[in-house]
This record gives sequence, C-alpha cells and structure tokens, in this order.
Amino acid sequence: MKEMISVALPKGRLGDKVYRMFRDAGYPNEEIEKDGRKLVFESPEYGIRYFLVKPSDVTVYVERGAADIGVCGKDILKEYAPEVYELLDLKTGNCRMCVAAKEDFEDDLSRTLRVATKFPRVAQEHYGKRGRQIDVIKLNGSIELAPVLGLSDVIVDIVETGTTLRENHLSVFETIFPISARLIANRASFRFKRQEIETLTEKLKQLVEEKK
Ligand code: PRP
Repeated sequence: MKEMISVALPKGRLGDKVYRMFRDAGYPNEEIEKDGRKLVFESPEYGIRYFLVKPSDVTVYVERGAADIGVCGKDILKEYAPEVYELLDLKTGNCRMCVAAKEDFEDDLSRTLRVATKFPRVAQEHYGKRGRQIDVIKLNGSIELAPVLGLSDVIVDIVETGTTLRENHLSVFETIFPISARLIANRASFRFKRQEIETLTEKLKQLVEEKK
C-alpha cells in the first residue's frame, strides 16, 4: 500500500476546480464529485485522502499537520503568514486584493481612514508602508456594505469579476497584490513524505504548464 497523502481542499468553487486538477494529475476520487455532505474522501489505491474544509481554515489544518498538504489563496497566506511551505502556484482562482470605495470617494489625509476588511493584517501592512493612520473595522463578509452604509471610508477586499463592486456603486482605487491558489505543505510532512509530495507537486506543475 502506498503512503497516503492527506489534502485539505477549500470547500466551494475553488475546491471543485482544484480537485479536478488533482484528478487530472492522477489522484481521482469518484465520490467527491457527487453532491453530498461528506467531508472525507479516501482513494487508498491512489495514495490520497481529501478533506473539505472552509477556505480560510486550510492553513490551520496544514500548519498543525492534520493535513499534509492543502490549497489556499495567496490572500490567506499573506493574512495569516502560517508556518508552511509554499510549493506551487496553481495559477487558478485568480483575483486581486484591492482598495475600493464609493465612486466619488476622496481621501482626506487629515483624518484617520476607516477601513473595513476581512484582512486586517493586509490592510495594516498596506497603509503602514505609507505611514497612513487607519482604523480597521474587521468584518466577516459582505464587506461592500460598509462604505455604502458609511461604516467605513474604504474596503480592502478581494475583487474577482468586479460585479459585487459595480452592483453596489463602488470602484477599485488601488490593487494591492494579485491572488492565485497555492499548494502548501506541512513542514514535517514534507520531510517524512517528501517523495510522495514531490511526485504530486511535479504532476500538478506539468498540468499548470500545459494550461499556459
Ligand atoms: C468575495 C469578496 C467579494 C466578492 C468579489 O466575497 O469578498 O465580496 O467575492 O467577487 P466579484 O468581484 O466577482 O464580485 P465572497 O463571495 O467570498 O463572500 P463574502 O461576502 O462572504 O466575503
């Protein structure tokens, strides 16, 4: 029997896409493709076990070794700076971290800027670099509501298609960094299952290159 690699996949659209990459790289699991409430899927014959976890929790599972590897966005890596290895840019789930505000927003530098975000560290770092004082308002979702209701002046959030901004009459003022999905590994797992993890990474890398 092969040494099993356990993979924390982000539940949802990104996870579906990423699973298909793993499948095409030679690590299929028939059950995961069906809609259901199961969270663990094993394919011992392919040496792989998948867990479906909330996207922002992938790093927790990987950092603590509950999963050997996982996939998460660069946004999560920048925000939480987990102690994991970043093995590969999967070049999918592309979007960007942005500052957005109401279309008529003008920054008043004499006042502390109120920033609503799910990413307080990213926001602090971005404004810290230019010495701009900010008041971070941490929210957990629907960030775009904050400037609409006057709860904040700007938001630091992810923009993918731009639809959410447009439909709420907000626009992008700055792009902070581009985001894509990354393959990450637990540091100890990478030592003990190095061969298996490297083989899998290499296969995924070939797929990423072919898609270019
Ligand atoms: C994300 C992000 C934006 C939206 C951007 O939210 O926070 O709200 O997607 O996508 P778009 O540019 O294609 O419109 P998510 O769907 O994760 O939900 P949330 O409101 O719970 O953060």
